[in-house]
Amino acid sequence: MIVIGSDHTGIELKKKIISYLTNKGIEVKDVTDFEDQSGDDYPDIAYIICKNVKKENCLGIAICGTGIGISIACNKVNGIRAAVCTDEYMAKMTRQDNDANVLCLGGRTNITNVFGVVDEFLNTKFAGQRHKRRVDKITELEKSQKEGVEYGNSL
Ligand code: RB5
Repeated sequence: MIVIGSDHTGIELKKKIISYLTNKGIEVKDVTDFEDQSGDDYPDIAYIICKNVKKENCLGIAICGTGIGISIACNKVNGIRAAVCTDEYMAKMTRQDNDANVLCLGGRTNITNVFGVVDEFLNTKFAGQRHKRRVDKITELEKSQKEGVEYGNSL
């Protein structure tokens, strides 16, 4: 299953991605299927998406106007590694190296191959090994902030 959601600026792109994935037989859970989204704010949307990504233990797609605001907000949620990707290479590498679990896209940007970006993100596996050490450090950094203690920087 893939969790997807958008603020008011990303509704059209969200619908396109839902159709694309559904046609491929991928189950998609739209967590922002609200009647009226005109006054919504991307941090609220980010939280709903991240909560569901954690609950379903799956990957997510979060869309705002640029992809930036929603990514900043998603990255405040414990356990979330969100990445704005504008091409297939970024999407592949953020899965492979960062074990990103939320792909952020901009509904108002002129991203050329959005389905290619989505495919790379969903089809690439985390490489582990030295990358696991680095991702574990992100978790440690997050934990230290939560606990209000100094991050155990190894440098
Ligand atoms: C909303 O107008 C817009 O600011 C939001 O969608 C997003 O692009 C923020 O980064």
